[in-house]
Amino acid sequence: MAIRLGDTAPDFTAPSTAGEIKFHEWLGDSWGILFSHPKDFTPVCTTELGRVAALKGEFDKRNVKVAGLSVDSVDDHNTWAGDIKETQGTALNFPLLADPDRHVSSLYDMIHPNADNTLTVRSVFIIGPDKKVKLSITYPASTGRNFDEILRVVDSLQLTANHQVATPVDWQDGEDVIVVPALSDEEAKAKFPKGFKAVKPYLRITPQPNK
Ligand code: BEZ
Repeated sequence: MAIRLGDTAPDFTAPSTAGEIKFHEWLGDSWGILFSHPKDFTPVCTTELGRVAALKGEFDKRNVKVAGLSVDSVDDHNTWAGDIKETQGTALNFPLLADPDRHVSSLYDMIHPNADNTLTVRSVFIIGPDKKVKLSITYPASTGRNFDEILRVVDSLQLTANHQVATPVDWQDGEDVIVVPALSDEEAKAKFPKGFKAVKPYLRITPQPNK
């Protein structure tokens, strides 16, 4: 069954390049990103995993643990890791889960039979410290993901989890945000001491409150 936003991220135990992972226990109190890729030793996936490895410092700064997944074996993952280091300039520094029996792929609905019967599509799940799914996106095998966008979403999710704001189109960390419609003007004045600008009664802009 498809996983919807707000659902508890399914727990599982799976082998990985960092040993066996009990997913919820491994996440602990951190945020998490679980992303699948179709197959080892494929070009787009190689570039994606190199990029995620290069961004490790950015994920750490945000208290996000990252795990990749494909249906191939840990042995294949470990051999491929050498190619990733050689060609992308950064060694794999996060667990790559192996899912030869499709257990995790099925739990997370990562195989879309009308796209490919056996391989996982490029799924991304962002999971909060409460183990609830905060975002899911799906890309086809032919399109590499933009992990700067994934980081941008993490920034928005972490901000909006703690403040009654929403982030506008193309927002980047540090830019103005939107006061949620649920707050009255009086409540917004109390909550946002820097004030807000009402472009329309329903479109109220305020400086990012945690900056
Ligand atoms: C790739 O990662 O390059 C890829 C994987 C499966 C199908 C097409 C491309």
